[in-house]
Amino acid sequence: MILVTGGAGYIGSHTTKKLLEKGYQVVVYDNLSQGFEELILTDKVVIGDLADIELLQKTFQDYPIQAVMHFAAHCRVDESVANPQKYYQNNLVCGLNLLQVMKDFEVKNLIYSSSAAVYGNPTKIPIPEDHLKNPQSPYGRTKLYFEEICKDFSKAYGLKCVSLRYFNAAGSDPACKIGELHQPESHLIPIVLDVALGEREKMEIFGTDYPTPDGTCIRDFIHVNDLAAAHILALENLKDLEGIRAYNLGIGKGYSVKEVVETCRKVTGRRIKSRPSARREGDPPQLVADPSRACRELGWRPQFTNLEQIIKTAWSWQQIKDC
Ligand code: UFG
Repeated sequence: MILVTGGAGYIGSHTTKKLLEKGYQVVVYDNLSQGFEELILTDKVVIGDLADIELLQKTFQDYPIQAVMHFAAHCRVDESVANPQKYYQNNLVCGLNLLQVMKDFEVKNLIYSSSAAVYGNPTKIPIPEDHLKNPQSPYGRTKLYFEEICKDFSKAYGLKCVSLRYFNAAGSDPACKIGELHQPESHLIPIVLDVALGEREKMEIFGTDYPTPDGTCIRDFIHVNDLAAAHILALENLKDLEGIRAYNLGIGKGYSVKEVVETCRKVTGRRIKSRPSARREGDPPQLVADPSRACRELGWRPQFTNLEQIIKTAWSWQQIKDC
């Protein structure tokens, strides 16, 4: 049985779907603060908070949990700058509760949702895993510190942990009704598609004076199903792992914000109003993964390797999400 914290969220729900398809039993643990009941795909569900250590203990008593996939976290860079307490509390203190209960119940297998935000402003593109870590936001620091905590738990208590550093998760499962849903929405592709749908009048391009070819930030968009597939591979590789191992998950190719808007125009055939605006605090100019370690060691092969394909799946979801 796999415990999926944050299983009602965007990436957690897609991974739960893939786990179920592969024949794993899954119990979802989610406080629905950012998750949605309609994204929960299993009938084994605990609605609760990781701050509630008694509920966490009861969950480990009630289910024969062998491994944990830990998605539950806050994930907005700008919000973490404005409200770091919320981020340290949830991403670190609550994460530590989970590690404590795992230790008490002798569950040693963990797949952790980390982030490209651990690198900060990279000095090398594409970014390898051993690149200097210099996170620029409290969010990025929580992701890095949790990796460090896992390292210590590995040494002292034998925890095995795969830390998956996501670049920009995007798209939705083409075969079912789950997709990207954040409240409020802050991510680029859903915002641009909301404009295409007429749900927003226009979108703002945060910064047009970055040191990139068209002046806008460059990101590496990775399809959520490819992320989900990497989690399964990581889980299957845990038995051979000692300690903690980190992997970048991106396609290794970057697209600028302007290119994203243009591609959304092409995919939707709709008019999308955009206007240049000030830079957003904490945004690195360029984040592009070197994903070769995940390909080599986990046998990971992303299926969605261009932006247009990814945006097509996001657009399918965007048109049905309010139904
Ligand atoms: N952007 C806009 N206008 C918007 C929204 C975003 O111009 O309305 C720009 C941002 O400034 C950034 C790019 O689009 O340059 C991507 O922004 P997102 O908010 O979609 O994603 P981020 O790159 O900021 O962050 C995402 C995840 C983080 C993770 C990070 C790692 O949300 O959790 O990727 O790469 F840490």
